[in-house]
Amino acid sequence: MTTWYDICAFDDVPALGARTVRIGAREIAVFRTADDAVFALENKCPHKGGPLAEGIVHGRKVACPLHNWVIDLENGEATGADHGCAEEFAVAVEAGRIRLAVPAERLAAE
Ligand code: FES
Repeated sequence: MTTWYDICAFDDVPALGARTVRIGAREIAVFRTADDAVFALENKCPHKGGPLAEGIVHGRKVACPLHNWVIDLENGEATGADHGCAEEFAVAVEAGRIRLAVPAERLAAE
């Protein structure tokens, strides 16, 4: 079963910024782009687990703060020559609130 969690107000996430939320054993980063699109990925870089929420958002990508891998916010995939994938989660903005969908089977850390 998938549960939608109310995370925060849309305006609580700055443009080109991120906010983290812990749900179950997961820390999830919610990103906002310059054009106000919202994405959610596990806050764990597929390289060595860097905190993606502390990275630089540009376009629809985020650069990991540790070694600068660039992760596609739309699917969590590393771009360029790097390989790996941060888990993505469905997000929605409704009535000015950001909501995040987490299936019950993904509540545990991997
Ligand atoms: S941990 Fe993210 S680039 Fe190395």
